[in-house]
Amino acid sequence: MKLIVLLASILSFGFHEFQSNEESISNGSVLYYQNCTPCHSLDENIIGPALRDIHLKRDSAWLFRWTTRSQKLIESGDTAAVAIFNKHNRIVQPDFKLSATQVDDIYKYIKAARRK
Ligand code: HEC
Repeated sequence: MKLIVLLASILSFGFHEFQSNEESISNGSVLYYQNCTPCHSLDENIIGPALRDIHLKRDSAWLFRWTTRSQKLIESGDTAAVAIFNKHNRIVQPDFKLSATQVDDIYKYIKAARRK
């Protein structure tokens, strides 16, 4: 009996995790299309660079700092931020008032987005 309860709780926990990840991706997709697509695409450089696989290049703490206040990160002397800014003709990405969860959701969406 104890084993069944244990199994049931593991299963429902697993299911819950799956659900909430799906929700994150779908929230992230809305935020991405609302805020980022004027300047970004996943696969092409437009005003800003292509964002496909950005999670392989930058860690989530950096992505949060960049996404909410890119100029502050550049001013702090962060090497990667300064380099990417100079490479893109010093065009300023606006600050976004997004929570850590919202930012995570955007990058979860980018990570999960299908290739065309
Ligand atoms: C007004 C145009 C604009 C908007 C809107 C914008 N960005 Fe950017 N983004 C840029 C530019 C330009 C760069 C290149 C660096 C620079 O010049 O500041 C950049 C760089 C980045 C980088 C660094 C890429 C790398 O290779 O390190 C990330 C990550 C990023 N943007 C994410 C986002 C996300 C997420 C959003 C939406 C919440 C967003 N950007 C909205 C213009 C924009």
